[in-house]
Amino acid sequence: MTVNNVTIHEVYKDSLFMYKDIPWSEYTSLQILRQCEQFEYRPDDIIVATYPRSGTTLTQEIVWHIVNHEIVEKDKMYGGTWKRFPFMEFNEKKASLSTTSEELNPIDSLPMWTTKRLIKTHLPFSFIREQFDKVNPKLVFVTRNPKDNVVSRFNFSKGLGSLVDGVPFEMFWQIYMNGLVTYGDFRDFNQGYWSLRDRANVLVVRYEDIVHQPFQEIHKIALFLGYSLSDEKIKTIVHNTTFDIMSKNKDVNRSLSVEGQFLRKGKVGDWKNWLTVAQSETMDAWIAAKLRCDGLRFIYE
Ligand code: PPS
Repeated sequence: MTVNNVTIHEVYKDSLFMYKDIPWSEYTSLQILRQCEQFEYRPDDIIVATYPRSGTTLTQEIVWHIVNHEIVEKDKMYGGTWKRFPFMEFNEKKASLSTTSEELNPIDSLPMWTTKRLIKTHLPFSFIREQFDKVNPKLVFVTRNPKDNVVSRFNFSKGLGSLVDGVPFEMFWQIYMNGLVTYGDFRDFNQGYWSLRDRANVLVVRYEDIVHQPFQEIHKIALFLGYSLSDEKIKTIVHNTTFDIMSKNKDVNRSLSVEGQFLRKGKVGDWKNWLTVAQSETMDAWIAAKLRCDGLRFIYE
């Protein structure tokens, strides 16, 4: 495998800090990460856990629609996902989503919720394990093939202005392959959650399956969460969570601070427009070296 030694600071403009051998940006903080490690779950919490840019928002919307199926209507929009489904380790004060400085970070407001809590996290399983294992709430782990993931992460980070101006995809790809991106190595992350796949309170879902066969996947997620929905209701959820409909909701599909939108293309296989044959083959070997023998299969088409 030929992966050069580009340093993380040649690629990221954001100020970063290391915690537990993983680089973090100011979209979280050391204090928040420590709070997350101690966060007390409730048995009826639902967690959506993903490596960044793996279909989190799509899955959050699906889960939210399932849980709120009684009020869900075709084509109706329900405001920003982040308000209904808080991002546990997010530093609200750092990001411009908060309009008032008094706004609490999700990790501080979640304990005050009196209704059912839906929680998004990109934290590796090792960060949540201790508290999670005490309560065993339901967790949906969504994974996505790493080739589309690296492309999506590059465009998102660039759009947020997190990268050094003009940094080419090639350099981002190199630090990604070296596990030097925020939230760490894709393979370690997937390994952590994949190891939970046989637990009754954990469901593993692939982004590509949701895109290719949304009805079946939404049905599966609903059953896992304990909801028996009519075909009609599932069709409504399929419709409301298509790329086209979600793109129209400006509270969900926010403009990124420098360029682009939160929802970019929503396709399986866009990596073919970005990766060279050599990069693609290197990634195949990189995955096989750590994950394939363990039974996790990615969908690239
Ligand atoms: S984040 O920032 O980590 O929360 O991003 P995340 O939501 O995990 O992933 C963003 C990618 O998911 C795509 N997306 C969708 N695809 C298909 N259908 C729907 N409804 C949908 N919603 C989001 C989004 O476009 C990002 O992928 P790319 O490849 O960049 O388009």
